[in-house]
Amino acid sequence: MVVDFESEIKDLEDLNPDSLMRREYMDKEDRQENILRPQHLEDFQGQQEIKDNLDIFIKAARKREEALDHTFIVGPPGLGKTTLASIIANEMNTDIRMTSAPALDKPKDLAGILTNLSENSIFFIDEIHRLKPIIEEMLYIAMEDYEIDWVIGQGPAARTMRIPLPHFTLIGATTKAGSVSSPLASRFGINLHIDFYNDEELARIIKRSARILKCDIDDDALSLLAHCSRGTPRIANRLLRRLRDFALVLSDGRITKSTVKEGLERLGIDDNGLEKMDRQILRTIIEYYNGGPVGADTLSISVGEAVESLEDFYEPYLIQQGYLKRTPRGRCVTDKAYTLLNMKGGSHADEGFLF
Ligand SMILES: Nc1ncnc2c1ncn2[C@@H]1O[C@H](COP(=O)(O)OP(=O)(O)OP(=O)(O)O)[C@@H](O)[C@H]1O
Ligand SMILES: [Mg+2]
Repeated sequence: MVVDFESEIKDLEDLNPDSLMRREYMDKEDRQENILRPQHLEDFQGQQEIKDNLDIFIKAARKREEALDHTFIVGPPGLGKTTLASIIANEMNTDIRMTSAPALDKPKDLAGILTNLSENSIFFIDEIHRLKPIIEEMLYIAMEDYEIDWVIGQGPAARTMRIPLPHFTLIGATTKAGSVSSPLASRFGINLHIDFYNDEELARIIKRSARILKCDIDDDALSLLAHCSRGTPRIANRLLRRLRDFALVLSDGRITKSTVKEGLERLGIDDNGLEKMDRQILRTIIEYYNGGPVGADTLSISVGEAVESLEDFYEPYLIQQGYLKRTPRGRCVTDKAYTLLNMKGGSHADEGFLF
């Protein structure tokens, strides 16, 4: 049997990588969020160490006229992973193709994108911990050797062809570093861990966003809003837009400290930036599980929240703020949670903490 190499390769070239960019993923992108997304490193607030190092790696790659090393970005939702990826593309003055791991269903999907990349461009995969093993293996060779193995034909006539790829930079983002396989993680040359922002950094982000949205905000209102934004720029920007609505309808349009206080109260956010669900999680662990430990699955059923949003969104901030601990036997609240909720009990919550 004669294998028609030419037409098989043509097939691969004909794949339109844009059709592979998962629709919901693109639609999910809030347009308002894009308006506020910084385009250059100098506009990206906070994370100074990351920015300083990245600036050097980018300048070095540009001087050598090479692709930037593969980059791994880890951090809780809304802290700037996608933003940083598009900033890297801008600073490298190159194209970026964005997709997310669940959209890469078949090897053909990945091959279609990789073979259509331009030299030194960026390929961004969001939620990279969700790659299928078969796709991940293909990616290993692509990342290391800039080639892919492509099987042509079927049965005894099947042949493997090595297809060369342009040099590219893979940027992988995840909220769950622990779920990324070590062979994949070890193939990234640059590792960036984005952490929660402090109040000062958030205040700068809000100030910049307010300027873009053409909305006036007092300094003390800015500080209070920054303090109540869970250390997260996406939340800071979202709250700013809501407070802008309150200010416009309930007063003269200027966001004052009392607008922030009233607005946050209406939105169910307390002085520490905790939402209703945060407090419900802590209360549930205390009332039903004696302070813990309780497993994530059980807890998610008890509070009626998906386990993913419990683990990815709520818990990281509660842990960072010292209200919750993750132990090998499950989640435990700390004394600080009892104090917050004004509930009796406490120190026994640490029982079962194994490290
Ligand atoms: N350092 C920053 N400076 C200014 N704005 C920021 C910064 N980081 C994030 N933002 C703002 O927060 C929004 C959310 O950031 P982004 O979408 O990059 O988060 P993410 O880490 O990719 O979240 P997810 O895990 O949900 O994909 C952006 O639109 C941007 O406006
Ligand atoms: Mg993102």
